[in-house]
Amino acid sequence: MEQTIKQPDNIKGQISPPGDKSISHRALMLNAIADGTAEVKNYLPSADVSSTIKCLEAMGVKIEVYDDKLIVHGTGLDGLKEPNDILDAGNSGTSMRLLSGLLAAQPFLTTITGDDSLRSRPMDRVIKPLRLMGASIWGKSSNGLAPLMIKGADLHGIKYEMPVASAQVKSAILLASLYAQGTTTIIEPIKSRDHTERMLRAMGVALNISGNEISCLPPAKSLKSLNITVPGDVSAAAYWLVAGAIHPSARIEITNVGVNPTRSGIIDVLTEMGAKIEIKNEHKEGGEPVADLIVKSSQLKGINIEGDMIPRLIDEIPVIAVAASMAKGKTTIRDAGELRVKESDRITTTTAELQKMGARIEELLDGMVINGTGKLRGAECDSHADHRLAMALAVAGLVAEGDTMIYNAEAVNISYPDFWSDLDNLTGQNEDNS
Ligand code: S3P
Repeated sequence: MEQTIKQPDNIKGQISPPGDKSISHRALMLNAIADGTAEVKNYLPSADVSSTIKCLEAMGVKIEVYDDKLIVHGTGLDGLKEPNDILDAGNSGTSMRLLSGLLAAQPFLTTITGDDSLRSRPMDRVIKPLRLMGASIWGKSSNGLAPLMIKGADLHGIKYEMPVASAQVKSAILLASLYAQGTTTIIEPIKSRDHTERMLRAMGVALNISGNEISCLPPAKSLKSLNITVPGDVSAAAYWLVAGAIHPSARIEITNVGVNPTRSGIIDVLTEMGAKIEIKNEHKEGGEPVADLIVKSSQLKGINIEGDMIPRLIDEIPVIAVAASMAKGKTTIRDAGELRVKESDRITTTTAELQKMGARIEELLDGMVINGTGKLRGAECDSHADHRLAMALAVAGLVAEGDTMIYNAEAVNISYPDFWSDLDNLTGQNEDNS
């Protein structure tokens, strides 16, 4: 599917982003192994979350899917069943990596695979720690890639210093540790998103957290099912934050956005760049901080983005590159080598696509340098089947001179199926050329 974006006269209105992807996956997986039935409201109804639903259903978990909520019938810690067939995580790294931790402790055999993109992403990062815990787990290409084959085993706790900051790896180890004998301690190089820790605690699991060190003290006897209203996804809100900041006539109110500090780097970085962002109605939902955000047209300036900030905005970097192209001065993004192993190599794909639009952007090994010129021009671009790139390019199209055509625009279904209609509602300028 192709999508054409024109520069609208103004971008004005109110929007509620879809439910958070990371929290939706976790609410499904953790409630699947909890005692009792849980209601998950405002979940994200996207392709990635549907991959997790299908994998859990294949292991005997009953999940009722409604438009506005899921009802997850927990099987208890020991209630999952051996699936009849290979599990398919689709495009979803979160499904594959987190489920690997869970499967490592189940008394049966599973094989889990994914699409071309997921089968090219590193899996040794979960295989290594799970093997140290006693898991029997193998992967293609000398245990580096999916498909993964996992034969459940008795696990034991480990002390593990993670070589990369990854919430998916941390969460896989935490899921395995629920079944392990003895304490499991994980040390992160930089703190990554902490939704798993928050949810496990809310379900009654004893975790000690001190700085970047997390200890899980089970084996857990049981998890209490957790009714939750999933906050809006700040990674989805990011597109409207940038659109509002860079368009000359914009005011967008984005309601019900998750502003967990391990995820809200986009707000801090845009504010440092000069974006006018107001944060209102701060409150908590399901143990997660939530707020409404108002963004207005702003004059942005270039900044340096690196170090501890990176995991707090890792998924937002493609759209930050768009903001930086429209800013005055130089933006340097470093320490973001992880972008090379996302749904696409986001350093190469973001650079190549924004160059087509006239951006002065160059690759670094671990980031990018963008010399903001304050203008972009419409071009024929490709999402590279990467949802975040498709949406970042759409935002670039909203300020570009002339039309921007985005090929493979359906990639948005991975994390934000209503993206094109939300864009239409805010701008009235969107055309579907499929
Ligand atoms: C996620 C963690 C991040 C992020 C991904 C979702 C999660 O990946 O990029 O979109 O839900 O745990 P890494 O763990 O690979 O950093």
